[in-house]
Amino acid sequence: MSADRSTPNTPPADGTDAAASASASGQTELIRFDKVTKRFGSHTVLDALDMKVYPGKHVTLIGPSGSGKTTILRLMMTLLKPDEGTIKLGDRYLTHEDKGGKLVPASDRYSREIRKNIGMVFQQFNLFPNMKVLRNITEAPVHVLGMDKDAAEQRARELLDLVGLTAHLDKYPSQLSGGQQQRVAIARALAMRPQVLLLDEVTSALDPELVAGVLDLLRDIAHSTDITMLCVTHEMNFARDISDCVMMFDAGRVIEFGPPEQIFTAPEHERTREFLSAVR
Ligand SMILES: Nc1ncnc2c1ncn2[C@@H]1O[C@H](COP(=O)(O)OP(=O)(O)OP(=O)(O)O)[C@@H](O)[C@H]1O
Ligand SMILES: [Mg+2]
Repeated sequence: MSADRSTPNTPPADGTDAAASASASGQTELIRFDKVTKRFGSHTVLDALDMKVYPGKHVTLIGPSGSGKTTILRLMMTLLKPDEGTIKLGDRYLTHEDKGGKLVPASDRYSREIRKNIGMVFQQFNLFPNMKVLRNITEAPVHVLGMDKDAAEQRARELLDLVGLTAHLDKYPSQLSGGQQQRVAIARALAMRPQVLLLDEVTSALDPELVAGVLDLLRDIAHSTDITMLCVTHEMNFARDISDCVMMFDAGRVIEFGPPEQIFTAPEHERTREFLSAVR
């Protein structure tokens, strides 16, 4: 990442501590991007991105449309592969396998295995339309984790209680409001007990009156669990409430990062100021 060293909010050009903030002394990072480059054709979407996120921290990615935020989450879900660089989750690579000290691109099998630790909630819910609510939540724990069906159902009921949908467990997604479907999607992600939860504009497709309820639920989850969160949102008040660190992206680079009070009240970069005044 090339960056201007003259400003305190700017990640150092060598990337050694380029992310976030969210460091806790003596802890090892849970997520680590090292010089990750992603191109689509001749368009470089991520440009040698360095990023670290520490366990239990909540990092919000902000930036204009097309700046690469979703691409970062899709790389973490192993739905995309980087062209250069590596991504690690804990002490294992997401993108590569270590074979006798030599890094080789990860096989699909290896990626599926490591992806079990990462949950994602999408803008468009992406529930299984042909499955009732309860089964939407038990499906992956049973078939991906090999969890006992009764135990998976028990856990699903607890999660439906958490998201306030116990009365709806026997319905199909099409019988629920957008806000209710998004709560099911959140419960479904949590059912896998992921180390990392990725949230990509999860309230953007909701009617305005349903947004607050989903954000309140996510606030509760952020404050009451030790799950590490990487969140893309245009809801700046929400970002301010839950984030340990906010990272501002532009053109595939982190141009600035820091605690929310710093980024939202005293951003260093003109680009950040412009962006924030446009979304507020
Ligand atoms: N599969 C793809 N093929 C080609 N280009 C792509 C693909 N996916 C993303 N891009 C391009 O990569 C760039 C970054 O996309 P990305 O979806 O990561 O942006 P974003 O920051 O999430 O934007 P938004 O705020 O609009 O969701 C965009 O220019 C986009 O058109
Ligand atoms: Mg996006």
